[in-house]
Amino acid sequence: MKRVTRREFLVDSTRLVGGAVGTLALGSTLLSPQDAMAAKVKFAESSCGLEKKTGKKVLVAYVSFCGTTGGVAEAIGQVLCERGAKVDVRLVKNVDDITPYQAVVIGSATRSASWWPEAIEFVERNKEELSRKPVAYFLTCLALYKDTEASRRVARGYMDPVLKAVPDVKPVDMGFFAGVLDYSKLNLVYRMVMKSKMKKRGVPEGDFRDWNAIRSWAEGLCSPLLGV
Ligand SMILES: Cc1cc2nc3c(=O)[nH]c(=O)nc-3n(C[C@H](O)[C@H](O)[C@H](O)COP(=O)(O)O)c2cc1C
Repeated sequence: MKRVTRREFLVDSTRLVGGAVGTLALGSTLLSPQDAMAAKVKFAESSCGLEKKTGKKVLVAYVSFCGTTGGVAEAIGQVLCERGAKVDVRLVKNVDDITPYQAVVIGSATRSASWWPEAIEFVERNKEELSRKPVAYFLTCLALYKDTEASRRVARGYMDPVLKAVPDVKPVDMGFFAGVLDYSKLNLVYRMVMKSKMKKRGVPEGDFRDWNAIRSWAEGLCSPLLGV
């Protein structure tokens, strides 16, 4: 068993409190998942492409706890760039204004059978603007560790909370992707909870992102989002 140093214990305890506060702060932006993990995780943000090619500027906004959904967001952004859009990949918490964008892709890691609350709040906050633009949703989860009809149904259900909360925003498409299980990124409490849950479900640690599936879904967005 790995020995925990005094420093690691203190850092974990601090994160544990941070995680608990984050959980208590559900429905508010008091402590975003990124803030709770900021010391341990790097969250991808980038821009690519030239707006003048298609005249389209696209936002790919996402929420992540351990950072790996950012890789999915960037892969989607890359495909849209290659097809002639200017793309900004941003954490939801860093997006102030979506009016400059002609299309928006919004994604989140799954937490407790739903997008993270911050992602749903983002859609609620911007619903008027989003209902006038082409929008696509995606999520990452571990239910899709095994790709079966039943696991796809489960993953599809994870989108229900946002679809019900903001029915006026109708996504042109929804992408469901297997994510990552990395205990080293989790604080003590989450690590214990996830270890017990994942053991029961037979999910090992690993990176299950299927880049071909992600890129192929993004290719399918080019027509409804960019008109190409
Ligand atoms: C606290 C927590 C709760 C989770 N709940 C679910 C869940 O209900 N269903 C599921 O399929 N995956 C669940 N997951 C798995 C994550 O959605 C998955 O690992 C995702 O790839 C993590 O992305 P991130 O690195 O961007 O945070 C959970 C993960 C964590 C840490």
